[in-house]
Amino acid sequence: MNRSDPKKFRIKSFGCQMNVYDGERMSEMLVDQGMSSAGDGEDADLVVLNTCHIREKAAEKVYSDIGRLRDKDGNSPMIAVAGCVAQAEGKEISRRAPSVDIVVGPQAYHRLPGLIDRAKTGKKALDTDMPAASKFDVLPTRKKQARPTAFLTVQEGCDKFCTYCVVPYTRGAEISRPWSDLVNEAKALVDGGVKEITLLGQNVNAWTSEDDKGQMQGLDGLIRALDHIDGLERIRYTTSHPNDMTEALIAAHGEISALMPYLHLPVQSGSDRILKAMNRSHTTESYLGILSRMRKVRPDIAISGDFIVGFPGETDADFEETLAIVREANYAQAYSFKYSPRPGTPAATMEDQIAPDVMDERLQRLQSLLNEQQHDFNRTALGRQTDILLERNGKLDGQLVGKTPWLQSVHIIAPELAIGDMVDVTIESAGPNSLQGKVTRREAA
Ligand code: 5AD
Ligand code: SF4
Repeated sequence: MNRSDPKKFRIKSFGCQMNVYDGERMSEMLVDQGMSSAGDGEDADLVVLNTCHIREKAAEKVYSDIGRLRDKDGNSPMIAVAGCVAQAEGKEISRRAPSVDIVVGPQAYHRLPGLIDRAKTGKKALDTDMPAASKFDVLPTRKKQARPTAFLTVQEGCDKFCTYCVVPYTRGAEISRPWSDLVNEAKALVDGGVKEITLLGQNVNAWTSEDDKGQMQGLDGLIRALDHIDGLERIRYTTSHPNDMTEALIAAHGEISALMPYLHLPVQSGSDRILKAMNRSHTTESYLGILSRMRKVRPDIAISGDFIVGFPGETDADFEETLAIVREANYAQAYSFKYSPRPGTPAATMEDQIAPDVMDERLQRLQSLLNEQQHDFNRTALGRQTDILLERNGKLDGQLVGKTPWLQSVHIIAPELAIGDMVDVTIESAGPNSLQGKVTRREAA
């Protein structure tokens, strides 16, 4: 069956922020090709599912989403599966879901236009190559942005091979994008109205490249260069690995005011025995050492983390050590997950897989401690004056939602203000998940 030329597309990104970034780049590329993005409630004749493979639940979701795209007569729009499920499952996807037309991996999505052309002739199109030439060299330059915040992928892939994780297989080996490409992309984003950039990478703090003078630079050097871009008010980065946390990057937090006081530093477990089995290559002691050095240069820093409960062999005593490191680290915010065995990873075939009810109980205890810490952290903001960058409309009339430097959401009622404004507020109330504030001063226009 020949398919018509798709004119309207919709991209749905799941999983991590790197997928969000990839989704935005795909969208800009399709617009460049003459297509347009389907509005809310509008039908799309191309749907791109930009998928996540990190846990089983995320990976399985794509199949129910594909089913939902069928109309009452059994017809579907052109469907492309992109992202990490595409990379990991390849051809298997269209075997399991015959309505899928295109399967495209995270390193090949710049070739989507050619794949669409093939799909138009009724053939299945598959591209899960990891080509040597980078997609970044052919994607169109960044244009006017709809939001005041943007992601910028600086590093991709992972060489760490934690024993539970699919990322080294789906995203490939660690690569750092070149210095000048990143400085230029950041400038283009700021020209497009962006005030805050979050630098992204699976191991963002492993980023390294020569600068324009031939000097090797680490992430701290890149941040210093971006700090010189007029109009760029806030810089963030995520996700960092404890082993790549250099002293220079820690020091940068005490020196660069645009670098926000927030560090997402996954520890995964508080048991050194489990960290070893996970092949994390750091210890609880080295992790806590980083936090204390960071807090010396930036005492107000908000610490965030990731945790896995129920890794194979995790005993009650190991889990108690996880609770202990949480108490010691004192998180502003954190993500926690039940271990999910992933095909092809070493941990999936380890003995002593943990029973689901044990995992449930551990996750609940961990999350209740983390929620308590998050609420406590939010309460320390009460009465404080801070700037917030307004990012979206709230649910109420005249309500806007902005972020503090510590990445907390603040709701304000201010019909005279707009998304993209940076304003000073006083925090008046603090819930477990967000704050409320009153505007005290608006930035000079
Ligand atoms: N099971 C559960 N959680 C996982 N993560 C990565 N792989 C798995 C897995 N197999 C979590 C880690 C990582 C975050 C992005 O997802 O905590 O930091
Ligand atoms: Fe996965 Fe570990 Fe690499 Fe993070 S550092 S992406 S958890 S393998």
